[in-house]
Amino acid sequence: MLNFDKIDDLKKWLKSQRKENRRIGFVPTMGALHKGHMSLIEKAREENEIVVVSIFVNPTQFNNEGDLKNYPRTPVEDETMLEEYNVNALFSPSVSEIYNDRYVDDIPELGNIATVMEGEHRPGHFAGVVQIVSRLFKIVEPHKAYFGEKDFQQLAVIRYMTEAKNFPVQIVGCPTVREATGLAMSSRNMRLSDEGKKEASHIYKALKFVRDNKSNYSVKEIKQKAIDQIQATGKLEVEYLEIAAAVTLNPVDEWSDSENMRCFTAVFCEGVRLIDNVAIN
Ligand code: PAJ
Repeated sequence: MLNFDKIDDLKKWLKSQRKENRRIGFVPTMGALHKGHMSLIEKAREENEIVVVSIFVNPTQFNNEGDLKNYPRTPVEDETMLEEYNVNALFSPSVSEIYNDRYVDDIPELGNIATVMEGEHRPGHFAGVVQIVSRLFKIVEPHKAYFGEKDFQQLAVIRYMTEAKNFPVQIVGCPTVREATGLAMSSRNMRLSDEGKKEASHIYKALKFVRDNKSNYSVKEIKQKAIDQIQATGKLEVEYLEIAAAVTLNPVDEWSDSENMRCFTAVFCEGVRLIDNVAIN
């Protein structure tokens, strides 16, 4: 695997690959890699001649200093995993390599899609995500880029941004990979104790309850039931639990408001903020 930390070196190599008509698949990450990330890389490996993975803990998308400081970093293990999965190139730039005067950001107006749920509770977060992903798209110029449904709202924001900015890249959404307990895999899970991980499996159980019991309750009632289930033992605290239309992400008040809905939640467990979502129809 080639290892790049400079934009120009990566671009030069990519240019030589494009000349050979090789298709480039790109998987942006913040490292501390797990099987969820690897599922994106496997898909990229199947569909492209060249797979580029970036590892960059992007400071502009963290709205909380402590969260940025505590974000897990496992560079040695990450590199071993990427080698095993036959990744062609790893791009892991420094903050100053990415944030210099070289690129002018023109971040499109994201509208409602970025102001509900994660947007409401993490002000500035999606502006930071859009800023880094558009810089990375300009550097890598991939044919396809891979994102997980685990961060479904992020995927929606990136699809919107890609269209608004006319990036010639196909965005591929990939299903959420879970632990045997149902807990969605996340780099942040590394910060949980074994007890916390067990407790956090109630999040997916509650989301499945919503999916499987829609016909028995109103939207308002089922949201409250799911929140109560998650918080039953007092160890988890729900920040929000919302049922929203899958395309617009507008919250739904009645089951008849949308044909394609998902249930989204953000939950604190041992001081770690976890998010998850499922399709409910
Ligand atoms: P990160 O949290 O490292 O995630 C990188 C990619 O892996 C994202 O597309 C995310 O949705 C996907 N992913 C994470 N856990 C997953 C799981 N359990 N199943 C399937 N996919 C999963 O998301 C980011 O980094 C950053 O915001 C980034 C897009 C890299 C911009 O900085």
